[in-house]
Amino acid sequence: MPSSICVICGLSSFGLCLLFVVYFSKFHNWSRVKLSQSYETILVERRERVAIVTINRPDKRNALNIQTRAEGAAILDELREDDSVRVVVLTGAGDKAFIAGADIAEFATRTAIAQREVMLERSLFNAIDGFPKPIVAMVNGYCLGGGCEVALACDIRIASEKASFGQPEINLGIIPGGGGTQRLTRLVGEGKAMEMILTGEIIDAQTAFTIGLVNHVVAADQLETKTMEIANRIADKSPIALRLAKEAVKIASRSNLDEGLKREVDLFALCFSSEDKDEGVKAFLEKRKAEFKGK
Ligand code: COA
Repeated sequence: MPSSICVICGLSSFGLCLLFVVYFSKFHNWSRVKLSQSYETILVERRERVAIVTINRPDKRNALNIQTRAEGAAILDELREDDSVRVVVLTGAGDKAFIAGADIAEFATRTAIAQREVMLERSLFNAIDGFPKPIVAMVNGYCLGGGCEVALACDIRIASEKASFGQPEINLGIIPGGGGTQRLTRLVGEGKAMEMILTGEIIDAQTAFTIGLVNHVVAADQLETKTMEIANRIADKSPIALRLAKEAVKIASRSNLDEGLKREVDLFALCFSSEDKDEGVKAFLEKRKAEFKGK
């Protein structure tokens, strides 16, 4: 499906032609994705149709420095072009943090102009938001500041009971700048978002679940199992329908109801141009499981 039809995701990597190869490991049915570039701060692994992207700076609680942001966006550009990847899971290395926010050390000497330039470059947050395939955040620990904003840009959030969430930027004399004031507010409502952003309070996973910030909270040793269960269930669906469904849902928070309903009709009708729709309907009538090919 050409990315030009998608208003949300057609902006960034249209025309990209990247070469990469997938090879399978002998262990636990895992495979390592061989990307066309090498990355230092992020790991990518495969389990069948799911790619697991791990921010790998555990000594710094996976804080996002410029390099990590750039590598994250570049990896997503590569994964979007790989038809064998149906779903991405995003997580942090180690057992302490998902992502503890922007790398505060980088703020120390940065001027306002330099900071603006950094933020106007294609951001990791926008790369996640515009990613056409489902992205699930597997939140294993501190999910703070830019880390919370990364999770918010994902489609679904699964948290370990040991995870904690917050927008503590106010404690540094700044405000969320990775979409937190907008996405958090849309997700949990103005009152809860305002309290988190104005107080900088860190909330536990159960509270995050109660206010609708995360979809599920599970025991730490069940986090991967639960996340993979959901990711695999999604990976079984038609990639075309998933992409159009994502686009339709995202329109809901970006337009008014009438416009959103009109766009939904267009995207619904577009599904009828796919072989996957024929297969889905046929499989139902033949009482068998559909095999979607993404065509
Ligand atoms: N930016 C840069 N470095 C960070 C970081 C961040 N956001 N979060 C953690 N680190 C670094 C620490 O400076 C420390 O580095 P050092 O070992 O070289 O001194 C290392 O990660 C471990 O952090 P530490 O505070 O010792 O770990 P902890 O487990 O006791 O506490 C946190 C973890 C996340 C609660 C704490 O590090 C923290 O509050 N971080 C900042 C969170 C934040 O304000 N994020 C929003 C940024 S806009």
